[in-house]
Amino acid sequence: MQSVIAPLEMQSLARQWWAQGLKIALVPTMGYLHRGHLSLMEYARGVADRLVVSLFVNPTQFGPSEDYQQYPRDLERDAGLIREVGADVLYHPGVEQMYPDGYQTYVSVEGITQGLCGASRPGHFRGVATVVLKLFHQVQPHTAVFGEKDYQQLVVIRRMAADLNLAVAVVGRPIVREPDGLAMSSRNAYLNEEEHQAALCLYRGILAARELAAAGENSREKLLEAVRRIIAQTPHTRIDYVALVNPETLEEVETLQGEARLALAVWVGKTRLIDNTLLTETQSCCV
Ligand code: PAJ
Repeated sequence: MQSVIAPLEMQSLARQWWAQGLKIALVPTMGYLHRGHLSLMEYARGVADRLVVSLFVNPTQFGPSEDYQQYPRDLERDAGLIREVGADVLYHPGVEQMYPDGYQTYVSVEGITQGLCGASRPGHFRGVATVVLKLFHQVQPHTAVFGEKDYQQLVVIRRMAADLNLAVAVVGRPIVREPDGLAMSSRNAYLNEEEHQAALCLYRGILAARELAAAGENSREKLLEAVRRIIAQTPHTRIDYVALVNPETLEEVETLQGEARLALAVWVGKTRLIDNTLLTETQSCCV
């Protein structure tokens, strides 16, 4: 496995692969890898001739009072895991390489970044879209793989790729969970045991909503209320949002018709966690 730091070196490697007719897959990460990240890499390895995993804790997607400094980092362990997956390149540029002095250009995806996480993290998706577009130019992937864990992020990247005519297939992959149901996240490292137990309320809320939907419930308020109740009963938690949205436009839906995404963000102690699930309308059968 090659380790690359300089954007121009990455780009010239990508150009050589293109010239050889090789297909490139990219998995962008901020490191502190877990099985969720690894599942994306395993998938990506199977759809291309060359796999690049990028590891960059992107300062522009963190707000001024967010956890950029504290964000967990372990380059050595991550490099070992990326090598084991069989990646060809670990691309880990430094902040000064991605945002050199005088840097002034940002990408702003509009409507779909306003709600959900965008409402409580202003500027977050501008930072995400900017760094992902830069990574696309540097790595020139045919396929880029993202997790559904960050569902709004996936929709934002898809929108950007379509709007800017990017020649990259953006693939979304399912959420990987701990055995107890907690969605894997680098930020789970912030939780103590008591908070980890409390954090299970996100998944319990999801299960309750899925169960109601399977029993034919399609009222948005009833579905959301069931989730809110479970979280409200859990100590150390505070709801940021619980929402039922159209899976493509991320607009709120009044009733569950066809398919919708239930998305939630919850503070557990000082840690903000997100989760989501697809809900499918159950057609109640005729007599
Ligand atoms: P990061 O949080 O490191 O996540 C990297 C990728 O792993 C994202 O596509 C994310 O959705 C996916 N992922 C995280 N947890 C997952 C889980 N439990 N199951 C499946 N996939 C999971 O998301 C980012 O980094 C950054 O915003 C980035 C896209 C790299 C831009 O800086």
